[in-house]
Amino acid sequence: MSQATNQSWGGRFSEPTDAFVARFTASVNFDQRLARQDIQGSIAHATMLARVGVLTEEERDAIINGLTEIQGEIERGEFQWSVPLEDVHMNIEARLTDKIGITGKKLHTGRSRNDQVATDIRLFMRDEIDVIEVELTRLRDGMIELAEREADTIMPGFTHLQTAQPVTFGHHLLAWQEMLARDHERLLDCRKRVNVMPLGSAALAGTTYPIDRHVTAELLGFDRPAENSLDAVSDRDFAIEFTSFASILLMHLSRMSEELVLWTSAQFNFIDLPDRFCTGSSIMPQKKNPDVPELVRGKTGRVYGHLMALLTLMKSQPLAYNKDNQEDKEPLFDAVDTVRDCLKAFADMVPAIEPKKESMYEAARRGFSTATDLADYLVRKGVAFRDAHEIVGLSVAYGLKTKKDLSEMSLEELKQFSDIIEQDVFEVLTLEGSVAARNHIGGTAPDQVRAAANRAREALAALKGAS
Ligand code: ARG
Repeated sequence: MSQATNQSWGGRFSEPTDAFVARFTASVNFDQRLARQDIQGSIAHATMLARVGVLTEEERDAIINGLTEIQGEIERGEFQWSVPLEDVHMNIEARLTDKIGITGKKLHTGRSRNDQVATDIRLFMRDEIDVIEVELTRLRDGMIELAEREADTIMPGFTHLQTAQPVTFGHHLLAWQEMLARDHERLLDCRKRVNVMPLGSAALAGTTYPIDRHVTAELLGFDRPAENSLDAVSDRDFAIEFTSFASILLMHLSRMSEELVLWTSAQFNFIDLPDRFCTGSSIMPQKKNPDVPELVRGKTGRVYGHLMALLTLMKSQPLAYNKDNQEDKEPLFDAVDTVRDCLKAFADMVPAIEPKKESMYEAARRGFSTATDLADYLVRKGVAFRDAHEIVGLSVAYGLKTKKDLSEMSLEELKQFSDIIEQDVFEVLTLEGSVAARNHIGGTAPDQVRAAANRAREALAALKGAS
């Protein structure tokens, strides 16, 4: 400890840090969240140092016991965090030296805060990714189950938010599920690159002590030590990858949210969300607002912001570590918290969606959703598709004038447009006939939806087995 500055690095300094600068550069108020991983990393480092003979076994044990006690102090809320001690790393190291004396000062042998912090964040991200994966899996499970239950439920499918063709609600839910399946793969892919160990890179060039990085990597559950010390202390790609995974996931959740919000409105009236996911209005007693999906939709913005913040943080940074990197934590922490909470909200809410089947069915019946089916029927009877399109267009115009859906017209009325039309046309003009006819892989036929739900369940199980 320097006389002039009272700091562990103050030897070469002749005056203390300006009080404002100390506050401005300190990160302890937010990076204390890494305490558990910091202690985990330090225990592994001390264990390795003893294994290669840099520390004695007694020194190692004193360090490990001291760190374990500190962990308890932190968990019980007794630990006194100090801003003058800058960050989580120096707070814990100073406390260790308080507790065990000079041996505490040996912990930092062959290490720097640069490789230490990079290791801590990776350990933290790995833990958080595993929690997020549990929620994502729970959401996918619930979605697949609901899709299977609603494989026969007919609703309008939309393009341009205009009724296009009938689909099944199960098919729609499995479309959401596909988005999440890709997000899941992206998350696991990101985890692979998170799980690489910077420790041993020291400040930037490596260390002169005879360290064994394979030992530390194994103790910490990393797949391998990072290849290059300069890269390892400065790389934050993994944080950018995570927030880009998070941004795409939230973009998907915002699309689902938007549909949930629309569907709960009186204008659509497709679903009910249980009261526990909604709130009322302080002025309009009749209101029940879909706050949970609205908030998820809104939170998408902050996650995109974090991705931009991290990309910009890393832009043009010269090798190796720069203090800029201290700014990685707050966006990353908030992205992690937001993703976890949004997934939890969705995993709880999706299985509780109550489809209003009659209302969905009625909506699909309006808007000439089987017009394409009539065209396909004519094509099967030998009419060229473009001519069939024209014939059906005229039928729809007639339907608009007479306020009749195609299936409500009599055979005589339909024959005005083409005398090829026979009694069997009504099989394709019903909503049930329309969805059942799309009977191929990826189609909306109820049997296809059931088969797709089964495949989705198997794919999810395979992914869980692989991780
Ligand atoms: N608080 C710092 C961070 O989060 C720890 C590493 C500081 N290293 C240094 N040489 N100043 O990035």
